[in-house]
Amino acid sequence: MVSIQRIHAHNASLKSLTPNLVAVFVGGTSGISLSTALALARHTISPKIYLIGRSQSAASAAIASMKQINPSAQPTFLQTDISLLRNVDRVCREIAAREPKLNLLFMTPGLITLHGRDETVEGLDRKMVLHYYARMRFVANLLPLLKRAREDVSVSVAERLSRVVSVFDPIVSVRAGGAGALNFDDLELKRTFSLKNAGDHASLMGDFWLEGMAERHPGTAFVHAYPSGVATGVLREVPGARLLSGVLKWVLWPFMVPVEESGERHLFAATSGRFPCREDGEAEQQQQQEEEEDVAVGSDGVRGSGCYWVSWNGEVFPRNQKLEKTRDQDAVTKVLQHTDEVFQRVCT
Ligand SMILES: NC(=O)c1ccc[n+]([C@@H]2O[C@H](COP(=O)([O-])OP(=O)(O)OC[C@H]3O[C@@H](n4cnc5c(N)ncnc54)[C@H](OP(=O)(O)O)[C@@H]3O)[C@@H](O)[C@H]2O)c1
Repeated sequence: MVSIQRIHAHNASLKSLTPNLVAVFVGGTSGISLSTALALARHTISPKIYLIGRSQSAASAAIASMKQINPSAQPTFLQTDISLLRNVDRVCREIAAREPKLNLLFMTPGLITLHGRDETVEGLDRKMVLHYYARMRFVANLLPLLKRAREDVSVSVAERLSRVVSVFDPIVSVRAGGAGALNFDDLELKRTFSLKNAGDHASLMGDFWLEGMAERHPGTAFVHAYPSGVATGVLREVPGARLLSGVLKWVLWPFMVPVEESGERHLFAATSGRFPCREDGEAEQQQQQEEEEDVAVGSDGVRGSGCYWVSWNGEVFPRNQKLEKTRDQDAVTKVLQHTDEVFQRVCT
């Protein structure tokens, strides 16, 4: 476990970075994303922080808190409903028109519901969009800006942060005896939707898509993170949410992470050298640097390979045979291909 003292020491060191880091927080009006955005504001000088969500009132409160923590922070709210990919495309165009580079893309949009398949006008299930398709569309659209952050010669190589963090759960499909399997004949779950399948597919497709991105884009690091239990608004669409939250908090308290600690821990995951991009991971291996041991093992089992499936405590999940079996079915290629096909069909 990465100790909280180490997390605080690392985050405090971010003050020495060149000012004006640019970060986009998708789902930044609430919960883990907001807490991480506030941590970024606390520990860096004049960061440019984009919050994406639907709620203007939540965004106004978030921006007021951010300015109080750090008057030099430059927050902007981009209001949009990202359950439609066309809105994702629009908001990405807006970001690209304002910013030449992007250091951090941090994503948490989602919800817990008891509803079945809920198709948007674009023909995709809303929950699957929030947990998977919209997130990957943000990455695909913003990769040119992430690459430019990596190539930014105005800062030292060590400061060229270019990272994607998606907060969901890399191993939900194998928890409680789950099979960790993808239905390659129906990745979109048009015919085989269930809440369990939706969670499993969003998790596994996120795992393998991000791994594929790390192979293809060695200058950017990709993290799929599990937050553990954090008391946020995530249950708001479940009937009796307030009562349920109270009960869950009581039952799950040994596994709960306070929301502020969660933000600090996710800021570590978003900025620490423990999760380097593939290029840096390979360079460190060759140089046999002292801190090599601290570089995390990538999701493909290779230290520093650019994609990391990370638990709430900063450790990567141990290799899992069921997930290995799914990867061996050519999961990375099939998931990338399927996702491209969906993007081509929906985003024309
Ligand atoms: N909290 C936990 O205990 C826990 C545990 C395991 C996994 N997770 C996963 O971690 C992620 C983050 O959870 P959280 O607890 O931080 O959730 P949260 O507090 O509910 O935050 C979700 C964010 O997503 C945004 N969002 C939802 N629907 C949207 C839409 N259609 N368009 C634009 N933005 C939308 C919300 O903003 P607006 O309301 O402004 O739109 C909000 O800012 C989720 O994927 C969740 O499944 C959470």
